[in-house]
This record gives sequence, structure tokens and C-alpha cells, in this order.
Amino acid sequence: MSHDTMKDRIMVALDVNSQAEALAMRDTLADSVGWLKVGLRLFVAEGPSLISKLSKTHNIFLDLKFHDIPNTVAQAIESAGALGVQMVNVHAGGGKPMLEAASKVAKAFPNMKLIAVTVLTSDTMPKEQALQLALARAKLAKDAGLDGVVCSVHEAAHIKEVCGSDFITVTPGIRWGNQNTQDQQRIADPKTAVEHGSDYLVIGRPILQADSPKQAAEEAANMMSQAKI
Ligand code: C5P
Repeated sequence: MSHDTMKDRIMVALDVNSQAEALAMRDTLADSVGWLKVGLRLFVAEGPSLISKLSKTHNIFLDLKFHDIPNTVAQAIESAGALGVQMVNVHAGGGKPMLEAASKVAKAFPNMKLIAVTVLTSDTMPKEQALQLALARAKLAKDAGLDGVVCSVHEAAHIKEVCGSDFITVTPGIRWGNQNTQDQQRIADPKTAVEHGSDYLVIGRPILQADSPKQAAEEAANMMSQAKI
């Protein structure tokens, strides 16, 4: 598949501390990636006004992993929808009533995908245990009407088998070459991620800390386009 298709499947984790740094990184990356992921650090520091600035050029994944009682999570999903983000997530550990409440509210925002975190890719539990838990949580999310899950590359193909090929898989824990794995445990390179059925690759430090972030993003897209699928 072409490089251009692949760059639209890269979500850069904007794990920086300030609006100035976030906007500078956005400008540096320009159209080398289709998505920017705003997580806890940046959203707590800068809030919704940054989202509207970043939305002008990229799709936004608001990665706040809501995990609370159903009513509170449903209200948070409504606020995310009002921000106009293209993807938001909850933690599947919140259970079925929470997932169903989130899903019900999200239907009012057809341009926003709602996905669930299964098992953090940094979790140190044995791989087999992580797979079983991720599969169970993916099924729960699917049954509750969510659009997909965040999982590791190692679980993506199994989840697609069980939940169907349209069920979105978003995979962090991407590393290539001799990059530092840092706190990630279940990692894979961009080509392998695509081969295992990952729809979107979340990439943070390998791009943010590269000498040239744009070049690193292009390298990832090139590796993805070499996938044999
Ligand atoms: O720097 P790195 O590529 O490890 O960043 C991964 C990003 O994906 C971080 O923003 C992290 O919060 C997020 N994430 C994750 N594992 C999950 C869900 C989200 O690493 N299960």
C-alpha cells in the first residue's frame, strides 16, 4: 500500500508539556502524519483551546482513557464530542454498564470514533495473560457498541478474528531499529504492526525525540507501506 495511505494511519502522541511545544511539533510534522494524539499531560496543561488549534490541520485522538461511573463517563464523552475530535477513548476496565453508557452518547457524534483501552502496552503481565484479557475486553467493547480498541500489535490480529475486520485496532508500543523500548513492554515495528492488522499506529517518543521528527514519521510510513498484506 502507498506511503500516502500509510501516513494517514499514523497517530503521533503529542506527549509534550505546553501549547507552544505542541504547535511547533505540529508544524514540524506538517502533513507527514494524519493524526495527532492529545493525552493526559497536554490536555491537563492546555485544555480545549489547543484542540481547536490542532484540529485545523489534523485529525485528533483525545486519549484521556475515561474510567469512572457510567454517568460521569457519558458526560465526558459528550464534552469530547462537542470539541469535535475524531476519536476518544475509555478504559474497558470500567465494565459493561460504563461502556454502554459511553457508546449511547457517542452515537450522537457520528464523526467521532469511540474506542476502549484493553490492557496498557506498558503492563508487565505475561503476554498470554494480556492476550486473554485484551480479547475479553475487546469482546465486551464490541458488544457494547464501541468502534474499536487500543491494544498491542501482538493482540490485534486475534481481536480482528473475534470482533471482525471492521473493528478498529489502535496500537501503541511501536519501536524500530535499535530504539529504546522505555516503559513499553509489548512492542513491534511499523511493518509488523500493519501485517498484524493494526489500523492506526500510535507513535510517541520514536518521533518526538528523533533528530528529525518529520523524517522519523516518513520512515515509519515507508516501513508500513512495505507490509505484506
Ligand atoms: O512514546 P510512546 O511511543 O511509547 O507513546 C505511546 C503513547 O501511547 C503514549 O501517549 C501512551 O499514553 C499511549 N498509550 C499506550 N498504551 C496504551 C494506550 C495508550 O502507550 N494502551
